[in-house]
Amino acid sequence: MSDSEAQQPHRRNQLNDLSGREWLYATRSIALTGTPPTPLNDLTAEEWAAWSAPILASAYPTRGPASAAHHIRKAHPSPKPPALLSEIIRFFTKPNGWVLDPFAGVGGTLLACAQTQRQAIGIELSPHYIDLYGQAADALNLARLPVLQGDAREVLNSPSIQQQRFDLVLTDPPYSSMLSRARTGQRRKQGNGAATPFTDDPADLGNVDYPTFLRELTSIVAQTLQSLRVGGHLVLFVKDLQPTPEHHNMLHADIVSALYQLSQLRYRGYRIWYDQSAMLYPFGYPYSFVANQVHQFLLIFQKQAEGEL
Ligand SMILES: C[S@@+](CC[C@H](N)C(=O)[O-])C[C@H]1O[C@@H](n2cnc3c(N)ncnc32)[C@H](O)[C@@H]1O
Repeated sequence: MSDSEAQQPHRRNQLNDLSGREWLYATRSIALTGTPPTPLNDLTAEEWAAWSAPILASAYPTRGPASAAHHIRKAHPSPKPPALLSEIIRFFTKPNGWVLDPFAGVGGTLLACAQTQRQAIGIELSPHYIDLYGQAADALNLARLPVLQGDAREVLNSPSIQQQRFDLVLTDPPYSSMLSRARTGQRRKQGNGAATPFTDDPADLGNVDYPTFLRELTSIVAQTLQSLRVGGHLVLFVKDLQPTPEHHNMLHADIVSALYQLSQLRYRGYRIWYDQSAMLYPFGYPYSFVANQVHQFLLIFQKQAEGEL
């Protein structure tokens, strides 16, 4: 790649407006970064490599102006940092591109879309979380993007979704009832990933058993494919749970296997987000090794034309 190619978007790049260098770094399977200390474009490859060395502690701030109204969003058990979502959105869409988040929570995806001049629609079961998203958008002086309240399985059939062609489905689904069971007892003490259920609603995908969760998530993804353009991407956040004697709990692998049923979806691989602000717990100490899972998977899929696979 020549210097000039590294610094500007390639003339045949139909996906985004990233320079060659930005594209290259966005494909790393591990991102050690939080918010870069200077805008990405200003870093040389050497400076970036030095900055992203594992020894450099970096985390998205949870206080102050750079926290993206975390003081409001933290009422949700698992709000995602808009700065991280912005990086994903900038890779998978052009400015003014369309993004769908069927599990919008307190609006990490929507805030990131407003910050990066993308259009978006969210869907969220809980009116409370939608209200908090609105408050966060106001606090940040960002446009309130539309969030449709209800069960994604129903709302995805509505005309406002069906009539839109999205470039990216970016979402962070709830996990199965393994999480809601973690409210009490040992698992909560162990902080096994996210100990609080999102809602008490039976329609909450976090409140169903694991086989049902995998089946329903697959069917929701199939629904989103109807509104995703051919060539558009699906990016799913997934955090594995701690292994138990009954199950390895590698959700990311089970979800990829489940989504292989969808013939129009091609699995493109994953990136890992290392959440440097994740709490560490002395799980097995001082008797046995139990991993502290401080990373999440970004599972990346692309919609193919019928018969293209
Ligand atoms: C992991 S959270 C998303 C957090 C979000 N990325 C953010 O930054 O706030 C998953 C969300 O899905 C919602 N949810 C669960 N089941 C749903 C369903 N059937 N339809 C729509 N939303 C649902 C939950 O209320 C929860 O807020």
